[in-house]
Amino acid sequence: MLNNTTAVITGASSGIGAAVAQALAAGGSTVALLARRRDRLTQLADTINARAGGRARPYEVDVTDSEAVRTAIDAAANECDGIDVLVNNAGSGTWGPARTAELAVWHNVMAVNFNGVLNTTHAALPHLTRAAATRDRGVADIVTISSIAGRKVPGPNSNVYAATKHAVGAFSESLRQELAEYHVRAGLVEPGVVVTELTTSGRDYAPDATKPTGYGLLQPDDIADAVMFMVTRPRHIAINEILVRPTEQTI
Ligand SMILES: NC(=O)c1ccc[n+]([C@@H]2O[C@H](COP(=O)([O-])OP(=O)(O)OC[C@H]3O[C@@H](n4cnc5c(N)ncnc54)[C@H](OP(=O)(O)O)[C@@H]3O)[C@@H](O)[C@H]2O)c1
Repeated sequence: MLNNTTAVITGASSGIGAAVAQALAAGGSTVALLARRRDRLTQLADTINARAGGRARPYEVDVTDSEAVRTAIDAAANECDGIDVLVNNAGSGTWGPARTAELAVWHNVMAVNFNGVLNTTHAALPHLTRAAATRDRGVADIVTISSIAGRKVPGPNSNVYAATKHAVGAFSESLRQELAEYHVRAGLVEPGVVVTELTTSGRDYAPDATKPTGYGLLQPDDIADAVMFMVTRPRHIAINEILVRPTEQTI
């Protein structure tokens, strides 16, 4: 399915990013795993490499550091034979009242969720356009993990998080329009509540991923399915947006 392709996944050390990396690797992609926690990346790379045909390499990087991102992405392109797919997934989710928020925390969420996407996309674009122009597959993909909070502000306390996700939505749509002629597809995946460290790590105002519901909440693999659907379409089909909620989620 994705044989002879390379995918770069940011935030691959846990949650959705780790699930997407495993799905892409199972589909035949060589995966470049980017995040800050090297031990987690190495563990995941070892797991993928132990499977028949699995190829993964870890790259320890903070997505807010533009030079480090460029170095990591260029290294991934050199060591993994180009880049066909970029999955902008790294994210930080701070929820809480604006009245008592620390400005530095807002700036950090913006730095990871928005500037991080700019940093990785800018560094990967030359590799993606080259892959689309020169390889048999004939397309390349930028998939950005946004959120339901990028479609609408889901309620109080989502202030800076919702703002960053709206921003990546506008950026992705602009990329889509600009890159269509270069056969680089730009798509957004917008999850509702997924059970990951982001929603279960005790942040006071995060959507309650531990609340039992009849049908359950989304799992990281559910989002990996959406990403796989996008990047495995034939080259004349661009799936630009997928909104995925748990069946019982109302907001
Ligand atoms: N869980 C949900 O309900 C939900 C819903 C909608 C959208 N999303 C989005 O899904 C994406 C993944 O989140 P998740 O739910 O899977 O949470 P997660 O398990 O906490 O994963 C976040 C990932 O981002 C990485 N990351 C954070 N800051 C980074 C930085 N400065 N540099 C590099 N990597 C960084 C983390 O790795 P390191 O800490 O190792 O760097 C980790 O791999 C995020 O964009 C999030 O906004 C999640």
